Amino acid sequence: PVDERVADLLARMTLPEKVGQMLQLDARNDVKEIVSEQLAGSILHTSPAKMLEAIDLVAKTRLQIPLLTAEDCIHGHSFWPGATIFPTQLAMAATWDPALIERVARVTAVEVAATGIHQTFSPVLCIARDLRWGRTDETFGEDPFLIGELGAAMVRGYQGGGLSDPTAILATAKHFAGYSETQGGRDASEADISPRKLRSWFLPPFERVAKEGCEVFMLGYQSMDGVPITANKWLLNDVLKKEWGFSGTLITDWDNVGRMVWEQKVCADYAEAAALAVKAGNDLIMTTPGFFEGAQEAVERGLLAEEDIDEAVRRILRLKFQMGLFEDPRAPDAARQEIIGSDAHQGLNLEVARRSLVLLRNSGTLPIQKATFKRIAIIGPNADDVSAQLGDWAGNSGQVDWMPDGHPRELTETVLDGFRAVAPERWDITHARGADIERLVPDPEGDTYPDGQPRPPISQGAPVDDHLIDLARAEAIRADYAVVVVGDTVNLTGEHKSTATLELQGGQIALLNAIAATKTPMIVVLLNSKPCVLPESAMNAAAIVQAFNPGMRGGRAIAELILGEIEPTGRMPLSVPRHVGQQPVYYNQIRGQHGTRYADLTQDPLFVFGEGLSYSPVRYEDLLVWTEEDRVRATVTLSNEGARPSFETIQVYVSDLVTSVTWAVRELKAYKQVTVPAGETVTVELEFPASACSLVTADGRRVVEPGDFELQVGPSSRERDLLKAAFRLS
Ligand code: IFM
Repeated sequence: PVDERVADLLARMTLPEKVGQMLQLDARNDVKEIVSEQLAGSILHTSPAKMLEAIDLVAKTRLQIPLLTAEDCIHGHSFWPGATIFPTQLAMAATWDPALIERVARVTAVEVAATGIHQTFSPVLCIARDLRWGRTDETFGEDPFLIGELGAAMVRGYQGGGLSDPTAILATAKHFAGYSETQGGRDASEADISPRKLRSWFLPPFERVAKEGCEVFMLGYQSMDGVPITANKWLLNDVLKKEWGFSGTLITDWDNVGRMVWEQKVCADYAEAAALAVKAGNDLIMTTPGFFEGAQEAVERGLLAEEDIDEAVRRILRLKFQMGLFEDPRAPDAARQEIIGSDAHQGLNLEVARRSLVLLRNSGTLPIQKATFKRIAIIGPNADDVSAQLGDWAGNSGQVDWMPDGHPRELTETVLDGFRAVAPERWDITHARGADIERLVPDPEGDTYPDGQPRPPISQGAPVDDHLIDLARAEAIRADYAVVVVGDTVNLTGEHKSTATLELQGGQIALLNAIAATKTPMIVVLLNSKPCVLPESAMNAAAIVQAFNPGMRGGRAIAELILGEIEPTGRMPLSVPRHVGQQPVYYNQIRGQHGTRYADLTQDPLFVFGEGLSYSPVRYEDLLVWTEEDRVRATVTLSNEGARPSFETIQVYVSDLVTSVTWAVRELKAYKQVTVPAGETVTVELEFPASACSLVTADGRRVVEPGDFELQVGPSSRERDLLKAAFRLS
């Protein structure tokens, strides 16, 4: 019946009505123009008021086709004051826990759906390799297998009981594909990436979520080998639709069609661009108002057949029928909104934040014992900073105008709040900012982009403020411990906001040096959108905790970790260089490099993928491996030699010993999370399909090459952390 309803409606639509259905336009603009004149079938960035206005306007159109509404709710409902803002995707990735992430996505869907939004632009499946890229925080890190597992979990959570479930929202896998393989870390630069490299590492997470039933795929911005992604028929049609059998909907990124005219300059006008985009397989055209006239003109000029437009519109209408929008437009629902930010949702938020924290160094200082009185100085520009804690896409970076104050202050527990809440009441918790990170100055290139969008000010390192440092030093000297919370700001992350360096900005290095010199044990907490390279003073600190942007409850989780109320469980979802010039330092590098060092620096990263300590050391031994039918099976024994339980993420890597093409030194194929009780030994069974030991041949086929392999099992991807055992596949 859905197909019949689609066919019936399509047959009654005019060409402008069809083209309008393909538009997803920015509802911060004039909604009347968007809905009544350009007949847009979809809107994004919609304030509650504009959404109601748009719904009313649709009711006055000839065919009253319900709107599809969309928003970037990528770690909670970004643009709804009081919604639950979870840790960013990068922080969540440090949990390595698909079940937990599925619950996060479910809660997000419930909150988002209640506000009348049907589609979220999440999950991000880009691979973070050059960390200067401004969108590193939006990724699940650097490993394709982990990204695929966590992305699939998010898709399940968002899409709940399926298209007709009113608490479900459409997941959008993005940015298809290769967008993160930038040059110089610069956003949307041409990606120097071959089809074979795409198939090897960049496509697998997308294939994984396509199989999981992800309804929508969003394109990136970049071009590859001279072909703008928007016109990449091979990728969109041959690979995604034909090879993987994807039958969902494709959406461009922001003005991709226009960009082919004004930015990439491969089309002379919007008619040419519209024709290219539709023929390549795009359905929803995001924020290119000129597509409305352009597509109609393309049909008139014979550049595009109306049947090609029909194909796209059919997919969009099918989606709307399957979601039941014709019967219930799923408008904002005040009664259902009561659950937004509920205690249960914020409880889950705290649980995720706790699980996401990575303890990177510990001289034995942590956890701080609560038995005796302590004075703790909470220092640093991010110690009491809501925005840095929430990260990007959290209503705090001026992306929308209807929540100028962001989320209510009291919903976020900063690190300072966390210590005040968790430390014994009689303890002395003091605070000093110590340094500023940035000062904002107008962009020298002007206040608008070529497409007229406002260009935000740029962030420059703030000067070192000796007075602030003196105040912080004085607090540190009086204290038993100094917790120094450093990192970056929301102006140093996001789209258009790549950074040239990974160094701590402003007065932060001077602050760390000054506090280290006091000899008070220093605990460095990194509250940052992406890894920073660290000065010696921080590397030699008594402890280092990597928190990324840990969300509304993150400050409390950090205090709990430092005070030993919880165990450290997070593991790094990406590798961190010692110096920005070492990049990229991802662990699954191709074999065949000369040596292990630069002439002036080791090649060794500072922290590696999978790294993370617990409070009790665990010994890995007795790795046994065998194959059984089409599976590789293994056992390994873990002994907890400490006094506290240890939550371990046992990582299973494979190295294919001889390959027909050069291949990665090792690749993650499986992992298992177990708690090893204090003083106990457990034997853990591991397994994965033998087909996972595949590589991509010179002619682009993914195959398992028979021969000798090595299983490598341990607590991180670092060579010295891994036990090894041989196995053979025939
Ligand atoms: O979803 C985003 C995308 O990731 C980058 N460009 C804008 C889109 C909509 O806000």
